[in-house]
Amino acid sequence: MIPKETIDEIFQTARVEEVLADFMQMKKSGSNYKAKSPFVDEKTPSFMISPAKQIWKCFSSGKGGNVVTFLMEAEHMSYPEALRWLADKYNIEVKEDKKRTPEEIQSQSIRENLAVVNEFAKNHFSRNLTENEQGKAIGLSYFLERGFREDIIKKFDLGYCLDESKGFTDAALAKGYKLDYLEKAGLTKSKDGRQFDFYRGRVIFPIHSIAGKVLGFGGRTLKSDKKIAKYYNSPETELYNKSKILYGLYYAKSSIIKYDTCYLVEGYTDVISMHQSGVENVVASSGTSLTEGQINLIKRYSDNITILFDGDAAGIKASFRGIDMILSHGMNVKVVLFPDGEDPDSYAKGHSTEEVKAYIEESAKDFIVFKSDILLKDAGNDPIKKAGLIGDIVNSISLIPDSIKQQVYIQECSNIFDISEQVLLTELAKSKQLKLEKEQKQARYNKPKDQVRATIKPTSRFSKPQAQPQDEPPPEALIPLEYLTDAERAKLEEYNNRVKIDVPKPVVLDHLYHQELDVIRILLNYGTYVVKTETIEVNEKGKEIEKIVEVSVIELIIHEFEKDEITFDNEVFQSMYDEYKKGCNDDTFHLESHFTQHQDLDISKVAVDILADTKELSYKLWEKFNVNIPSEVDQLDKAAIDVIYSYKSSKMKSEVEKIQAQMAAMDTDNFDDILVLMAQQQRFEKVKLAMAVKLGRTII
Ligand code: CTP
Ligand code: MN
Repeated sequence: MIPKETIDEIFQTARVEEVLADFMQMKKSGSNYKAKSPFVDEKTPSFMISPAKQIWKCFSSGKGGNVVTFLMEAEHMSYPEALRWLADKYNIEVKEDKKRTPEEIQSQSIRENLAVVNEFAKNHFSRNLTENEQGKAIGLSYFLERGFREDIIKKFDLGYCLDESKGFTDAALAKGYKLDYLEKAGLTKSKDGRQFDFYRGRVIFPIHSIAGKVLGFGGRTLKSDKKIAKYYNSPETELYNKSKILYGLYYAKSSIIKYDTCYLVEGYTDVISMHQSGVENVVASSGTSLTEGQINLIKRYSDNITILFDGDAAGIKASFRGIDMILSHGMNVKVVLFPDGEDPDSYAKGHSTEEVKAYIEESAKDFIVFKSDILLKDAGNDPIKKAGLIGDIVNSISLIPDSIKQQVYIQECSNIFDISEQVLLTELAKSKQLKLEKEQKQARYNKPKDQVRATIKPTSRFSKPQAQPQDEPPPEALIPLEYLTDAERAKLEEYNNRVKIDVPKPVVLDHLYHQELDVIRILLNYGTYVVKTETIEVNEKGKEIEKIVEVSVIELIIHEFEKDEITFDNEVFQSMYDEYKKGCNDDTFHLESHFTQHQDLDISKVAVDILADTKELSYKLWEKFNVNIPSEVDQLDKAAIDVIYSYKSSKMKSEVEKIQAQMAAMDTDNFDDILVLMAQQQRFEKVKLAMAVKLGRTII
């Protein structure tokens, strides 16, 4: 749990325009910023960022929110993940509620120290490329000869470790970095009490976290000696966990979201070349098949993954099992095979952006189809081999969580193998049964989850005294019909019909929802504005006189609500109203941010939707028509009163309808209760009438 004070500090410090600038190119537009939406592929920017309101709104997708919900929407972080990410960016200490164990504190500080050492190393190695003669002559030339542009070399923080025994280690020690951490990070090795640089004579590829922190390094040798490992990589540490890292993800994530596809390649150089050619949604598994942790990383951004294989990859078949795992995560897997002798790196270098994109698009094959083709070619006419491979394919299909997709694949495979769908379906059922049995065995070891019981809340105070007929059927309904007398049966039938006809529940509620939303909208936009309204005062002689008074909108709403004991049907609105009421007497209460940055995400969503919907942000309107729309605020007296009274009127109508339904369902000899209900009904009718009169006046 992150304590409330920390959350407040994060919200107060983080600026929506600064954070979003990490993810998109923004242009100033009046007091706001404009950008192309990260959620849809668009030519004209429809994404607005309001520094004044600290909110963003995407007019293409309708999404909107604050700085935290942006990270949740665009980066698929959880709420605490988003808060931690921001805390990290703004150097805010997250004081956890829960006491951390000494081990946790220690591992945290080890991670921080490793990160500091890595940061230093990254800068040292990349400076070698530009400031050191040997670095320029060997390291930089190598990259340039490979065809890497200077801007790309800079973007990926590429570097070079000089070919001398311990130039880096000496520089780091001189700066005060501890040998312990240099060794732990794998940058320095010690032998017989003497130190040397692990990566000496190698070009350096720093490996970044999703947030851009350097977690580790890959160092490529420049020698073509086959006996020397081509790459040295960082050892596993508290910071560098190979199975949870994808090379290039930091640079790829926004493009993966935009195109809703992630390209998977083998190595560092493939990622960089693809990037250079303009295809940015690329990550590398660094030479191994994907791990569970890496799949989950991709899944945050997209469900679609396309694996780009070298033309001569003998390892394709070996990768089938790994790809099955991707399928079982519900992801859609496609496969692209590059022409013989080419890999993404070489292909991207020899072709234009358009050509690369077109090649991938045209040759991408669905994985199941791809696997079927390859296996079928292998099996030739051998019936036993063929039977085996069908079992293999069906097993892959059985891993797909979506059963509709399974059916589609079964049809497809039936064509490819020229086998009836029925046979494949039977195989599939067997395969699923086996999987189920396995899962059940597993489940026996896990405790069942607590059952959450739904409770039906009365929709408002008014309905508390009586159970709602539509929620609870009359007791007779629980007795089997054949035990009822004819009269009872008729009564039951009548009840059922009446409840059905008399209570058009969804319509009324939906209508009310929008009216309640309208009240909240007026409240958030104009709560502190002053409006004129009529009131009745009793003078000394006991005579009622009408007077015009000036009150704030919130005062008017509170007055109108309390007078007739009105509460919102919608719980979110009710909480917002309650908090506004409490907060408006408090000088430190900042109305807009209180709601847009609310911990309750339902509340912040409502607030952002409302505040983003004003003229200032509805840029589409002002840009398209360039007109001044007569604004609500110019006629606020009328607008506010209209909204409040219309809502009250509808609310009363809905209450009356509820009472009528209750009365209709009651026993006629339950006379006392009916009287109570009738009295209530009368009260509501009166309020309704009063509202109609007031509305009539304001409308005229
Ligand atoms: N790899 C590794 N250790 C090795 C060889 C490979 O960690 N000894 C990983 C690296 O992440 C590498 C990827 O596997 O990027 C793919 O290997 P390879 O295709 O051999 O390397 P490239 O990066 O493509 O290098 P180059 O194009 O310069 O040959
Ligand atoms: Mn390669």
